[in-house]
Amino acid sequence: MYSEKVMDHFTNPRNVGEIEDASGVGTVGNAKCGDIMRIYLDIDEEGIIKDVKFKTFGCGAAVATSSMATELVKGKNINEALKITNKAVMDALDGLPPVKVHCSLLAEEAIHAALWDYAEKNSIVIEGLEKPK
Ligand code: FES
Ligand code: FES
Repeated sequence: MYSEKVMDHFTNPRNVGEIEDASGVGTVGNAKCGDIMRIYLDIDEEGIIKDVKFKTFGCGAAVATSSMATELVKGKNINEALKITNKAVMDALDGLPPVKVHCSLLAEEAIHAALWDYAEKNSIVIEGLEKPK
């Protein structure tokens, strides 16, 4: 049912944890199942994401997509991070079963929420970023 990459990121998730004094923190919930994800971003003056950590209270697919999403945003600038969709995360994991696609949305939404938090804290506007629900 799950690809090898999903199993790898589920059993050995990357970047689990918290960042103290993070530049931006985003917490989102999945309305379909009640699961929760929080992402911490450490962003430098040039707008490069130096570090990223996550905590997920959710299913295996949510853990695997969070883990892969953190790998994809690390080292990127804000605009590149904004373009990392749940589809890109799923592709990087060699796909998810259809019933688990909604789980991958958590990671994308949590990254956007953390970027929004960062923008608010620094009184900047990030083009193309919508206010999290
Ligand atoms: Fe909550 Fe998937 S339904 S873990
Ligand atoms: Fe709840 Fe996957 S995030 S079922």
